[in-house]
Amino acid sequence: MKRTNIWVWLWLLPALLQAQGGMWLPLYLEKQNEKEMRALGLKLKADDLYAPNRPSIKDAICQYSGGCTAEIISPQGLLLTNHHCAFSAIQRQSSLERNYVENGFWAMSREEELPCPGETATFVVRMEDVTALALQNVTEGMSERDRQAQIDKNIAQIRANARREKWQEAFVRPFYYGNQYFLFITETYTDLRLVGAPPSSIGKFGADTDNWVWPRHTGDFALFRVYADKDNRPAPYSPDNQPLRPKHFLPISLSGAEEGAFTMVYGFPGRTDEYLPAAALQQIAEVTNPTRVDIRDRALKVLDRFMRNDPAIKIAYIARYANIANAWKKWLGEMQGLRTYKAVEKKQAYEAEFLRRIGENPTWAMRYRHLLPRLQETYREIEPYADARDNYLETFLRNIQVTAAVASVGSWLGEYEKGQVGTFSARRTEVMERVRAGFTGYYPEVDRAVFAALTERYAQTMRPEWGGAFVRRAADERGGFEALAQYLFAASAFTDSTRWKALMSIPTADSIARRLQQDPLMTFWRGVSTPYNEEIGPKWQELQGTLNLLQRQYMAAQLEVFKEKRFFPDANGTLRLTYGQVRGYSPRDAVRYEFRTHLDGVMEKYVPGDYEFDVPKRLIDLWKARDFGPYATKDGRMPVAFIATNHTTGGNSGSPALDAYGNLVGLNFDRVWEGTMSDLYYDPAICRNIMVDARYILFIIDKYAGAGYLLQEMKLVRPK
Ligand code: ARG
Ligand code: GLU
Repeated sequence: MKRTNIWVWLWLLPALLQAQGGMWLPLYLEKQNEKEMRALGLKLKADDLYAPNRPSIKDAICQYSGGCTAEIISPQGLLLTNHHCAFSAIQRQSSLERNYVENGFWAMSREEELPCPGETATFVVRMEDVTALALQNVTEGMSERDRQAQIDKNIAQIRANARREKWQEAFVRPFYYGNQYFLFITETYTDLRLVGAPPSSIGKFGADTDNWVWPRHTGDFALFRVYADKDNRPAPYSPDNQPLRPKHFLPISLSGAEEGAFTMVYGFPGRTDEYLPAAALQQIAEVTNPTRVDIRDRALKVLDRFMRNDPAIKIAYIARYANIANAWKKWLGEMQGLRTYKAVEKKQAYEAEFLRRIGENPTWAMRYRHLLPRLQETYREIEPYADARDNYLETFLRNIQVTAAVASVGSWLGEYEKGQVGTFSARRTEVMERVRAGFTGYYPEVDRAVFAALTERYAQTMRPEWGGAFVRRAADERGGFEALAQYLFAASAFTDSTRWKALMSIPTADSIARRLQQDPLMTFWRGVSTPYNEEIGPKWQELQGTLNLLQRQYMAAQLEVFKEKRFFPDANGTLRLTYGQVRGYSPRDAVRYEFRTHLDGVMEKYVPGDYEFDVPKRLIDLWKARDFGPYATKDGRMPVAFIATNHTTGGNSGSPALDAYGNLVGLNFDRVWEGTMSDLYYDPAICRNIMVDARYILFIIDKYAGAGYLLQEMKLVRPK
């Protein structure tokens, strides 16, 4: 390295160390980030990334079907997102004869593209700070309820007055715990058609074993095309619709990204809690996450046992298993990460500094002294309720299937019991149809085993007066948890579609209601839900209200007391930009992870016939022949995935990773195991996001699928 380079590095060092973490607001990039981003290597201006009144890169980014991100990669509306985001759409298009989940799908022409009703692409037209309007007539002494009512009224006004076209939506979201409000004008396209998806052995390679883990070898991508009406506006599916002509689309780089390179991820992160006090992190690590993890652990073991023994059950439960396992594994990584990297201690040090600073300023001291003690006290107070709530929700609404159905019918039945017979009858078809539809792919014997395992745990862990004793008594009466499950499942209408259909055909509302009231699963459900509805839920709600208020004040205090620090608002499902550098990491002593994986690594993991690690023959052949076309790295290997210090979370799946010029170099889909705590505490030493290398995506489309015609509408570039 030349001497001058070293000096440049030293000069940049403080900036580089600071430039870690954060999900920034696109409209404040110039004010908050541009200088630093340029020091890190960005070659664009802030308003190339976000401009309200002319095309900018943000116009290529959209929220995909509510929960993921996607981006436009051609002038003809080609849309790229993750395979796991598109999974349910792909599954819905599949049948035994045309198993696109298993074998992949490639439209070889526009005519072959598959309409996917229900999938959506939402673009942000512009955003505005509307804090002053949203908080108009809000005063310090107001009760929380009056305050919220006033804000709701203000927001309704803001939305009504928002300048927008008739096909656009307007909504307002709180930021910084309600210290700021932003208005969003968006437009949502609903005619999306599936263009391409690799087989699961590529798109889901490594499945649950590799999920949340680096090194990773998954080609987690899928392609759609967005269609619009003849005026290029959102419209429901019609054969007359035309491919969207986007305001901007992302060029794709064939140069990749090397270690140290600047990258940024533009997308819709869902939720983070970066400003909680140490007490809250401790509770998550020691109480609530362990409860959730333990419940899911037991449910997953049961599912796994059945799925291994019966291929039909495996097909029916594969998506459910992946869903339950995804959060299970993240919570596990999160609690381990919080401990290993001493997040609680670091937060405590931060809080000590907060106290020190306010101690030196009498005004601050007076206004903020109570905050941390009150937060700590309230977290202590909420702990048993928070734990009981998680126990209840995880057990009966997220892991046992039948009780989730009983619960929804139960609240409908409640309307009848309150005398709202009209509403009850009006919703009848909708509610009962939903339960009926739920029988597709439902295996009562699987659910019964989950029920037995989880109710036993519930009796052991839930306070007697909060439902623990009720469940124990129910089991004792039948001779154990297994027997209780047998009895309830054999007698209930909720576990058998024939019995349910018979119930549906009962003519009068009164008789239906009576039958439902007598259903043994309904009686059981009421035994566990009553203490929740009467005690746990309301108390949790009340304390959570107190916490929300305290967090809002604590957030405002932090913004004021740490003036020199930049605070990004917690993720809330709105458009954000995060940036960082391509970097390996060292998870523990003597272990160093490199920043990129290759096709050779896919072959190292290959287990013929395995449902997670099988590799399609055609891919093996390409690898053997080293037929990588123009997509290989300089040293002739096929890149698959890479990591960087971008601060991402759930919802960032499918987000583009861009290089310094705004070219697509990767597709975000995950984070590394050791860094999953980054939703609560971001540590630049170990938190990394995982992206599919754009070159692997092109290689799969072109060389593997033979759909190279799609590359002709893309703009492939080779910067430097
Ligand atoms: N962990 C990634 C995310 O949170 C990928 C999940 C999909 N993959 C899976 N095996 N469940 O969404
Ligand atoms: N896989 C996640 C998603 O679907 C993104 C990974 C993360 O949580 O960072 O949004």
